[in-house]
Amino acid sequence: MCGIVGYVGKRDALPIVVEALRRMEYRGYDSAGVAIVDDSGHLMVDKRAGRLENLDAALAAHPAGSFAGTTGMGHTRWATHGRPTDRNAHPHVSADGKAAVVHNGIIENFAPLRAEVEAAGIEFSSDTDTETAVHLLALEYDGGEHAGDFIGSAYAVLRRLEGAFTLVFTHADHPGTIVAARRSTPLVVGVGDGEMFVGSDVAAFIEHTRDAVELGQDQVVVITADDYTITDFDGVSQQGKPFHIDWDLAAAEKGGHDFFMLKEIAEQPQALADTLLGHFENGRVVLDEQRLSDGDLREIDKVFVVACGTAYHAGMLAKYAIEHWTRVPVEVELASEFRYRDPVLDRSTLVVAISQSGETADTLEAVRHAKEQKALVLAICNTNGAQIPREADAVLYTHAGPEIGVASTKCFLAQIAATYLVGLALAQARGTKYPDEVAREYADLERMPDAVAEVLKTGPAVRDLAQSLADVNTVLFVGRHVGYPVALEGALKLKELAYIHAEGFAAGELKHGPIALLEDDLTVIVIMPSPSGRAVLHSKMVSNIREIQARGARTIVIAESGDDAVRPLADHLIEIPQCSTLLQPLVSTVPLQIFAAALAQSRGYDVDKPRNLAKSVTVE
Ligand code: G6P
Repeated sequence: MCGIVGYVGKRDALPIVVEALRRMEYRGYDSAGVAIVDDSGHLMVDKRAGRLENLDAALAAHPAGSFAGTTGMGHTRWATHGRPTDRNAHPHVSADGKAAVVHNGIIENFAPLRAEVEAAGIEFSSDTDTETAVHLLALEYDGGEHAGDFIGSAYAVLRRLEGAFTLVFTHADHPGTIVAARRSTPLVVGVGDGEMFVGSDVAAFIEHTRDAVELGQDQVVVITADDYTITDFDGVSQQGKPFHIDWDLAAAEKGGHDFFMLKEIAEQPQALADTLLGHFENGRVVLDEQRLSDGDLREIDKVFVVACGTAYHAGMLAKYAIEHWTRVPVEVELASEFRYRDPVLDRSTLVVAISQSGETADTLEAVRHAKEQKALVLAICNTNGAQIPREADAVLYTHAGPEIGVASTKCFLAQIAATYLVGLALAQARGTKYPDEVAREYADLERMPDAVAEVLKTGPAVRDLAQSLADVNTVLFVGRHVGYPVALEGALKLKELAYIHAEGFAAGELKHGPIALLEDDLTVIVIMPSPSGRAVLHSKMVSNIREIQARGARTIVIAESGDDAVRPLADHLIEIPQCSTLLQPLVSTVPLQIFAAALAQSRGYDVDKPRNLAKSVTVE
């Protein structure tokens, strides 16, 4: 996820663009850049790695009066392709210095396009997929079918791109015009008085106008100071969706939600889709910066997953999937325990380190310990260029976008998907699954963003339930099989956000101790296994609920729609979409996140910044 802004008007573009980037820094903050076109046809670009302050300082060092122009665009980056460095920061510029582009998303077919550009004798100055687009534009503009026609050239390039992207183009020969396009990533137009904006969201221009137009899928907009025209990629006229913004600025950054965490919960279908995007090509699962050959994967005889907090729960789920698909033993360990225990590691051990931030000290030290023992380390990380992926042998990025809320939500779902990709890649390399089985598992995964969108619809009912329980002191969570890590995650969320005593148990363990806690009106949240999965899991869980009910406790049951056996046993039933056993955590976790946030809100707590917690813990 990146933040994008474009401006055409009569005012100086630079301060407007930089301020817009500041408003959108929550969308990405590992580098930032601007491009300004002045009225005499000069393109000026500056871009810097790191926070926006670095760009501010660089811009302040330019002579007064430079970067003056009324057409401009900017970008704040959350890296996907290429490390967060100055050269990989956007905008990217054509070899003749005349065209510039900013981009949010992934151009999936960039490799053949890049080869084509290089064959035309053009040298790349970054490692990004984005740069391909601006060179293609220049080649088209300089000698292609649309020579001298900026808008026509931009359309010609857009038609060749595959993937998910928002792109904004400017050209020095055409001050006063910006071309922007959207496929699967957001773009809105801000309609001002004698000025127009494009932005990743309304936060980019809400200070200047409250009249906006939302672009649909596969639409292109051309803006000038006084007008905007929307078409499809073939230039056929289209209607945007005009709307008036009545949020204040703070709400705009949060997409209209009260807290970033609520926005991040709502973003989970996208986070999941983006994490999966591009990982199945030519009938095979492919990882990102794999740097591990199929040969390496075949040598592995043991997997350790190390992580902390929510990421550790994703690791627990990885064990179920990887062992099932590959028959390789998997151990899951809290990163803070791992290296002090003298675990048995060698060259044929794969250590999978899961970390949203890539900076968690406990996980980093576990990675270092694993490397000292000569194990192979694969990082699953959401932050491009962070320390853990830097030190790992291989990296698989979760493309969930920045997660601002301290309690992890969308990254949890993305981490589960990423570990499952690792499991499928291992199964594929080791031949423990036939290619058509791998393809089927992947196709099931690809359906999960829609299932998550479906389960989000339970939100209002779950919130009402949470509000009615605002005074509870203790909540227990029970689950079996993959429902067990979900129970732990549900309890963790409630502890973190609502400061309530919450415990997760494996349902089979109830009778070995926790059952003593059960009493009248105690709240117990039960995660039911899929009735279409192993019947024994389901029937054992039904018995567990009976045991809980018999002791007077209040049951909140999360069960698949159509699970009629459980209906009479639930004081409150939350229905989730049907899916296979291994994939169920991707939907069953969501109501628990909503429940914890709503309960915390009704107690008046700041769910984005729970007391005593930090987003990334860089001390051991
Ligand atoms: C902190 C956060 C948790 C997170 C954990 C691991 O404790 O509050 O939400 O799960 O760190 O963070 P990581 O960045 O390594 O995933």
